[in-house]
Amino acid sequence: MNKDINGIKKRALDQINGAKDEGQLEKIRIKFLGKKSQLSKIITEIPSLDKQQKKLIGKIANQAKRQIENLIVQKNKNFINQKSYNLPTIDLTKPGAGVKYGHLHPITLVLDEIYQIFANLGFAIIDGPEIENDWYNFEALNLPVDHPARDMQDTFYLIEQQGSRPMIPRTHTSGMQVRFMEKNKPPFKIIVPGKVFRNENEDATHSWIFTQIEGLAVSENVSLADMKGTLLKIMQGLMGKNAEIRLRPSYFPYTEPSVEIDTLYKGKWLELAGAGMVHPQVLENSGVDSNKYRGFAFGLGAERIAIAKYGISDLRNLWRPKLEYLEQF
Ligand code: DAH
Repeated sequence: MNKDINGIKKRALDQINGAKDEGQLEKIRIKFLGKKSQLSKIITEIPSLDKQQKKLIGKIANQAKRQIENLIVQKNKNFINQKSYNLPTIDLTKPGAGVKYGHLHPITLVLDEIYQIFANLGFAIIDGPEIENDWYNFEALNLPVDHPARDMQDTFYLIEQQGSRPMIPRTHTSGMQVRFMEKNKPPFKIIVPGKVFRNENEDATHSWIFTQIEGLAVSENVSLADMKGTLLKIMQGLMGKNAEIRLRPSYFPYTEPSVEIDTLYKGKWLELAGAGMVHPQVLENSGVDSNKYRGFAFGLGAERIAIAKYGISDLRNLWRPKLEYLEQF
């Protein structure tokens, strides 16, 4: 047995030294140390030997095992070191290739400018939930379940939970008018920027996801003229002193009167926002005394502004992950 062990050890160490790569080394390890190896077999037989033999063979076998293991570990280290020597070396004389800078998305750029201009006019910037319930998104804004104006804002309904109102990805930011008025006493001026979601037939000027900036100003005496002046200032801030806007009569259940606001872009009027004087019922639904207070409100589309500002031909490009395109702005 003693001889056997020495023989195994010699063969193992020779073969380990001769291994050419990690794969070969692993095969050798299994052959000499694996469960079915001769050495393992000998070790399992040790308990059945007589006392003296047990001590002697046990010692020799374990020493052999440890020597084989150690050499394998050493050899493996050598392979790993060799590998790192084979890594491509850095050429310190090579001229620099330049650093690729990150950049802001065009919508972020437009929003930053819009925030700045509104802040200068004294508007606070407020955040609201993207997942909204039916009350704030529709009902509190005079849009009961069967109201035909809901069709314009069809969306992706979430699974109804028993005992709670249906939840939806908000179709507009207007619901935040109600949430804000419930908690804050007039007078105030706010904007609420954020993403909105609709079941929309997409085209160059419509997308199923877009960014709205809701505006709301409530006091004892604001008027439609204040709203027109505010939005004209905003557009001039964004597009230059010659920017023009026009108001067109429209209909929203939550404003009276209601208007559509267009801006002149490449000789054509581009629809920018819905707006109007907040409907007295919406004030009441939000806990604001409609005999004392009046408000104007609007919902601006950030993508529309980006189109006009940067001369973008198809706003869907803003939502596509095409870096070559987005990096231009
Ligand atoms: N919520 C409207 C939409 O998404 C836009 C809008 C119209 C907002 C009139 C308003 C408003 O605040 O008063 O189409």
